[in-house]
Amino acid sequence: MSNPSSRSGRRDPDVTIRRILKVNHAGEFGAIRIYGAQILVARRLFPDIVPTLEEMRKDEIDHCRLFREAMPARGAKPCRVMSFWSLGGSVLGLMTALSGRNMIWICTEAVESTVQRHLEDQLAFLQKRDPELHALIGSIQEQELAHLRKAENSQTRRGLSHALFLPVVGVLTDVMIWLSAWGDSSWMRAEMARVRRG
Ligand SMILES: [Fe+2]
Ligand SMILES: [Fe+2]
Repeated sequence: MSNPSSRSGRRDPDVTIRRILKVNHAGEFGAIRIYGAQILVARRLFPDIVPTLEEMRKDEIDHCRLFREAMPARGAKPCRVMSFWSLGGSVLGLMTALSGRNMIWICTEAVESTVQRHLEDQLAFLQKRDPELHALIGSIQEQELAHLRKAENSQTRRGLSHALFLPVVGVLTDVMIWLSAWGDSSWMRAEMARVRRG
């Protein structure tokens, strides 16, 4: 793939917007798989949390659809390695659910707090460049924040597993996002830092 920054030293914002949509759509797809695998296990082991997980999965399905619908007008296409997100999500969901109910919430906290950081960067980037997508991401961010709060409040204890697992899942999520965005996630952070410094 050609590097959009190579000629002018600045990236074409349309390319970044397409990558934002691609990575967000793929991420929502991964989240659907995480919750799907967790629900599968929870039905047998922790049936009391199934309705909450199902509700959150329903939100992710909505988000996935909304990002997909925003693609054609911006010339964006879904990620070519959706199977990678699908497998990653299922494995993470299965492993965490089999490690106990607390681990389910630690996983959600780790993923959602990483997502929050990326959405913040995207919102700052899109504010003047694509107000319509900015509004869409803003409303989705509110629901993701509710998922994060639910995960934080559902944890019965915050021991070693929280301290160890939270950064690991956070880094894994960051790597997946970075790979899918072809490095644009870190470029956006740097660009936003420049804007803030004025
Ligand atoms: Fe979502
Ligand atoms: Fe979420």
